[in-house]
Amino acid sequence: MKNKRFLVLLFLIGSLVLIQCKKDEGPVEDDNNNESVSFANDVQPIFTQYCVSCHPSSGNLDLRQGQAYDDLVNVPASGYNGIRVVPNEPENSILYKKIDGSGAYGSNMPLGGSLSQAQINTIKQWIQEGAPNN
Ligand code: HEC
Repeated sequence: MKNKRFLVLLFLIGSLVLIQCKKDEGPVEDDNNNESVSFANDVQPIFTQYCVSCHPSSGNLDLRQGQAYDDLVNVPASGYNGIRVVPNEPENSILYKKIDGSGAYGSNMPLGGSLSQAQINTIKQWIQEGAPNN
């Protein structure tokens, strides 16, 4: 009789431990944070502040609001052999290689300067998330 009670108690404690472990797992997170990047709210403001002084005219690329998306995603570069933005593939996107400091495609952008690491990451993450027009 005493033994049986002990077993029930043991079972209850075991269950509690299991429930606790399951709770700790939490949702799966993506690499930087949970929030996905918005083109309109996160990416376009970078272009508007740092790029539109030269783009519409330079590089046959218009980065003004309302035109930038159509000029970037799946569009061949005018000065290089490649695509400006390949969805999901920042390393194959001329736009990303022009801001990442690699110098892989001529001068780094913005010409004569550079974006912050946070801004570079925002654009990279947007491409990694499929470059949506969101
Ligand atoms: C001071 C002027 C200037 C600013 C500011 C500037 N650019 Fe440029 N950009 C140029 C010039 C000139 C070219 C053409 C020569 C070259 O490819 O480097 C160019 C070319 C490019 C190209 C290649 C286009 C193609 O199809 O060949 C991309 C992509 C680009 N810029 C992105 C940007 C981004 C993004 C910004 C803002 C972060 C920016 N640029 C800011 C002058 C500028």
